[in-house]
Amino acid sequence: MELVDVTGVGSGAVFLIKGKANLLFEAGMAYAADAMVEAIRRELGEDGKLDAVLLSHSHYDHVAGLPELRRQWPELKSYASRRAQEIVKRPGALAVMRRLSAEAAEAAGLPWDSSYDDADLRVDVALEDGETVTIGDHTVYAFATVGHTRCSLSYVVDGEVMLCSETVGVLGEDGGYMPSYLVDYLGAEESISRSRAIPVKEIILNHHGPVGEGQRDHIWDLLEEKLAESKEIMIRVMNEAPDDSAALRELERIFHAGIDKKWQPDEAFYINAASMMKTLRRQFPERFARRFCLIAAADRHRGIGNKGRLLVTIPEDQALFSRLTAGKIVVLGRKTFQSLPGGRPLPGRVNLVLSRNGASDRSLSREGQAADVFVCRSVPEALAKIDSLLAEKNLTDGDVWIAGGEEIYRAFLPYCRTAFVTRIDYAYEADAYLPDLEQEGFRIQERSGERTFFDICYEFARYEKKA
Ligand SMILES: NC(=O)c1ccc[n+]([C@@H]2O[C@H](COP(=O)([O-])OP(=O)(O)OC[C@H]3O[C@@H](n4cnc5c(N)ncnc54)[C@H](OP(=O)(O)O)[C@@H]3O)[C@@H](O)[C@H]2O)c1
Repeated sequence: MELVDVTGVGSGAVFLIKGKANLLFEAGMAYAADAMVEAIRRELGEDGKLDAVLLSHSHYDHVAGLPELRRQWPELKSYASRRAQEIVKRPGALAVMRRLSAEAAEAAGLPWDSSYDDADLRVDVALEDGETVTIGDHTVYAFATVGHTRCSLSYVVDGEVMLCSETVGVLGEDGGYMPSYLVDYLGAEESISRSRAIPVKEIILNHHGPVGEGQRDHIWDLLEEKLAESKEIMIRVMNEAPDDSAALRELERIFHAGIDKKWQPDEAFYINAASMMKTLRRQFPERFARRFCLIAAADRHRGIGNKGRLLVTIPEDQALFSRLTAGKIVVLGRKTFQSLPGGRPLPGRVNLVLSRNGASDRSLSREGQAADVFVCRSVPEALAKIDSLLAEKNLTDGDVWIAGGEEIYRAFLPYCRTAFVTRIDYAYEADAYLPDLEQEGFRIQERSGERTFFDICYEFARYEKKA
């Protein structure tokens, strides 16, 4: 068996496996398709035939060269997982592939023919995990390596060569490393173990190429180490950065700065990194500092309420509350929840209510409630519920608003990094108070300046607490 890099523009992305039947591993970028075809023809001769393309997953930089390959060799068959087969039928996925292909072509300064028929991106043969197929004189074993995507497959050809999906990690030429566990970090760990368990003579790493002879014995140790190291780096950056955009910029500097933008434009990196951040938060929630926001209106002595009611109602304060919390998760104590106007939940928000013993209280039940209402019996239960709601609604920590009263502010303050406080310059009679934010390490970062409503003077202040 002979293995040749036929990426065409650049290297390490597309490999030709020659035999009586000729196989291609991946189909590459759309803009590189002409150069790839030229490289394949150089190897196979003008009359040579390409029989099959083995795809590791459904991303644009792996499949978008397929239409051109089909134009050249109309009889070829494409192989991938069943999930990948479904994905390349979705109009939304096909549109994203066109857009990212166009951006990659622009970054590379190369033209590409966008007139291909989306149907040419189809997967002809869907493979299951652990399935073996015969393609001409080759035996191809496919095994799932879920992590980069849920549709990722790696292959072993003729029991000799392993063609790895990106899930196991991508090595740069200069010892650099790009983590790739977009959807499943634990899956990436398992994929390395699964790959390690199959003895082969040659290992081809995605976006890299053959693993050198000297490196083959310890490649899986190296990839395992790099994977774990990248997880620690990402968690540190995410915990230290003031917000996710700043974390993404820092991750770009660490992992992507040295990468040629032709191979991975910035947008593709940001999409991938944001996805990895989400995956880590989902799979290792205990490792992350929370960044919930607190929102309150407090008087000169930090008073917030009296006899179960607010001290005063200021329209501009209510408008700010409505604007900041719309569509988000609002965490409330049972007493505050039951004091809401009309006894109804806050509309257009998820109402997460804390109650130690009132979960069976009918007034808290979701029956007859227009808005989303969830009742949790403890802070840990609320944190777990918040995690599942964030994932379900595609929200982030900063979309969780701790809205009082006093008991709830105290219970959730350790999980807050930002506080929006309407500071009212008056001393009311009060029996509920906001904790002393300054004493808890918060500092004012922004203030509105004095505002008035009739004879009430107040200002809006944003506090932040450093990690
Ligand atoms: N100015 C403002 O911005 C603002 C905002 C909100 C509220 N407020 C005012 O604050 C006052 C209410 O504050 P509050 O401290 O008395 O009541 P609260 O915080 O609204 O509610 C307290 C109740 O929450 C539940 N709870 C508290 N900690 C819990 C925990 N760790 N696990 C499970 N459940 C827990 C308990 O419910 P069960 O008794 O059912 O077990 C507890 O009785 C009112 O006057 C209200 O108007 C002011």
